[in-house]
Amino acid sequence: MSVRQLLVDIHTHCYLPRYAAFLRQRSFAPRIFTRNQEERLLILDDEPLSGRPVGPQYWDRDEKLKFMDLHNIDVSIVSTANPWLDFLDKPSTASQLANELNEDLENYCATSPGVDGFDTMKRLYGFGLLPLIKGIGTEDLLQTVKHITGLPHLKGIIMGTRGIGKGLDDPALEPLWEALSNTKLVVFLHPHYGLGSGAKEAWGDQENGHVLPLAIGFPVETTTAITRLILAGVYDRHPDLKILLAHSGGALPQLSSRIASCISHDPLVSSRLKHDARYYVSRLYYDAVNYGPEEMGFVADVIGRGTAYSSIPGAREDRLVGYKRMLFGTDHPFFPPLGKEAKWASVLENLQAIDEVQRWEKEHKNAVRGGNAIELFGLGHEQGK
Ligand code: URA
Ligand code: ZN
Repeated sequence: MSVRQLLVDIHTHCYLPRYAAFLRQRSFAPRIFTRNQEERLLILDDEPLSGRPVGPQYWDRDEKLKFMDLHNIDVSIVSTANPWLDFLDKPSTASQLANELNEDLENYCATSPGVDGFDTMKRLYGFGLLPLIKGIGTEDLLQTVKHITGLPHLKGIIMGTRGIGKGLDDPALEPLWEALSNTKLVVFLHPHYGLGSGAKEAWGDQENGHVLPLAIGFPVETTTAITRLILAGVYDRHPDLKILLAHSGGALPQLSSRIASCISHDPLVSSRLKHDARYYVSRLYYDAVNYGPEEMGFVADVIGRGTAYSSIPGAREDRLVGYKRMLFGTDHPFFPPLGKEAKWASVLENLQAIDEVQRWEKEHKNAVRGGNAIELFGLGHEQGK
């Protein structure tokens, strides 16, 4: 009897009802407001003030399950969408809201249906949230990590690039990396700020909707954040950290040799790291959200190539292992179809891209579609978490 291959979506968001209610009370971004009887979401600093339409797709669990059914997605690992709790300024509010939202998400997942034919597996799992804001104490962060580890259906945490205000190379985050690397939690690193204060000039005066912040700003932000983390030696000190990069790592795969070369020509940095920068690229995980077969294959090649750049003697290049670190995602409920078509092009494009990667055999494609996620997140093994 052949076992059904599962499709697992690891990049899919929601605003839990408690979070959406919170955004509705606000009068500046991030906020949900009503215009002409339609609710709209305003979250990015550099987006048109009209924001974008928002509806039950963002908070109603039945809508998530309907979307999954429509696209034959068996399991989703759901995360709160940006900007998480970053905008709060009171540590006690952030900690309390993080705990409540983590409980809400655990309940959202734990009460979801099971996967047909897979006894112990639920259809929904989650990434929890940390109260990552300026002024938060280390103890509060570690307490939230501990709380999440005790919630069986939360398999990781999602975070933005700002840390507690100074980015992910902030020495104050060291205890957090240490704590996370001692758990099985996967850290999903997701952008929100784009180019930040540089965006106004970079994007120019022409009205281009959300295209530049999402297509360029987001990936550049992720690339910068993870490069800073690598440069700070975080991976050298915590090699067991499991970091999953949104949007296939942004520009990191494309720039990794350039980053390595710049490091090796920089007198300040050249002796700082244990390995060539390309090696760290092979230690990360990447969503398969890049919409093209060539890009999909390229990212896998670069991940695989990185294995040769370990400083461990005898390390060899193994290009074909790259697929093991790539995982299907949709970015739902963002990027809905503009017309009336039922299925979402943003989903179909990524599925087709996986299917068309040259040199990937069926087993590689199945791994990216779901097998890798089941293994990385230990889906269905909630007791041993
Ligand atoms: N736009 C966002 O703000 N976040 C996403 O995750 C995708 C699109
Ligand atoms: Zn996303």
